[in-house]
Amino acid sequence: MIHCEGLVKIYKTDDIEVVALQGLNISVAKGEMMAIIGNSGSGKSTLLNILGGLDRPSAGQVRVGEWNLLKVTDDELVQYKRKTVGFIWQNNARNLVPYLTALENVEMPMMLSGKYDRAYAKQLLEWVGLGHRLGNRLQQLSGGEQQRVAIAISLANRPELLLADEPTGSVDTKTSDMIMDIFRRLNKELGVTIVIVTHDLALASKVDRVVAIRDGMTSTEFIKRNPNLDEAGGGKIHDVHEEYVVLDKVGRLQIPKAYLQSLGIDGKASMEFDGEKIIIRTPKSLEEA
Ligand SMILES: Nc1ncnc2c1ncn2[C@@H]1O[C@H](COP(=O)(O)OP(=O)(O)OP(=O)(O)O)[C@@H](O)[C@H]1O
Ligand SMILES: [Mg+2]
Repeated sequence: MIHCEGLVKIYKTDDIEVVALQGLNISVAKGEMMAIIGNSGSGKSTLLNILGGLDRPSAGQVRVGEWNLLKVTDDELVQYKRKTVGFIWQNNARNLVPYLTALENVEMPMMLSGKYDRAYAKQLLEWVGLGHRLGNRLQQLSGGEQQRVAIAISLANRPELLLADEPTGSVDTKTSDMIMDIFRRLNKELGVTIVIVTHDLALASKVDRVVAIRDGMTSTEFIKRNPNLDEAGGGKIHDVHEEYVVLDKVGRLQIPKAYLQSLGIDGKASMEFDGEKIIIRTPKSLEEA
C-alpha cells in the first residue's frame, strides 16, 4: 500500500533549512494496521502529511497504491486526497467545525466529494459509538467524543488508507482503548490499511507492527514485527537499514562524519565516477604520503 524509499523533506523558512526527513524507508502492506513512534520533532507528522497528500516531498520515492506522490500534479493530488486517504489530524480542531452537529460534520466532506449519503454518515457515527449524539453541536461534545467524530469524518470518503496523527494524544486511557478498538474493527471488517502516529509505546500491543523514526531520520527500525507480514513479504520488508544522505538541488551532499573519520578524509576528498558509482576516497596524494 505504501512504499517510501530515501524519502526526504526539507522545510525552507527564510534562510534556514530544516531537514525533517532524511532518507526515510518504510513499507506498509495493504490491510496492515501499524504504528509509527518517535520523539517530538522526529518527523512523524511530516511523514504523515506527505502520505496524506497535504505536503510535498523534497526528494526520494513515495508511492501509495497506484499513486506516485513525488510526481503527481496538483489536480491529481486533490483526487488522491478525496478518493484514497482519510486523515485524522494531531489537532482535531482541523477536522471539525464547532458550530455544526456531529452528523453535519460527517456529511460535509461527503458533499465536497460528491458522495453525499446520510445513512452512511449516521452509520459511521454509530460505529464510533455516537449514535445518540448525532444532533449535538461539536462544542457540546467532550474531547474524546470529538475525537471519535473526527474518526467518523476521516472515513466519510470510504478511504483505503487511514492516517491518524496522535489520535489518542489528548484522551484518557479508556477513550484511547476505545479508539484503538474502533481502528481494529475498521481494519478487520472494512480492510482499511491504518497508520497511526503516536509517542505512546503502550499502543504497540494493539497494532500489528511498530516502526520507530529516530531523530536523525536516516532510517527506520522495527520494534515489533508482524510475523504474518514477514512471511508474506518473503522477508523483503524487514531489515531494510540502508543509510541515505540528502542531496540538495545544486548537488551538495552530507557525508556522515564517522565515514570521513574512518577514512581520514579531512577538507579534501578525491572523487571518481566509473559510469555506475561515484567513489569518494582519501586523495591519492595523501595516501602515498
Ligand atoms: N512547516 C514547517 N516549517 C519548518 N519546519 C517544520 C515545519 N513543520 C515541521 N518542521 C520541523 O520539522 C521537524 C519535524 O517535525 P514534525 O512535526 O514532523 O515532528 P513530529 O515527529 O510530528 O513531532 P511531535 O511528536 O512533536 O508532533 C521539526 O524539527 C520541526 O520543527
Ligand atoms: Mg507531530
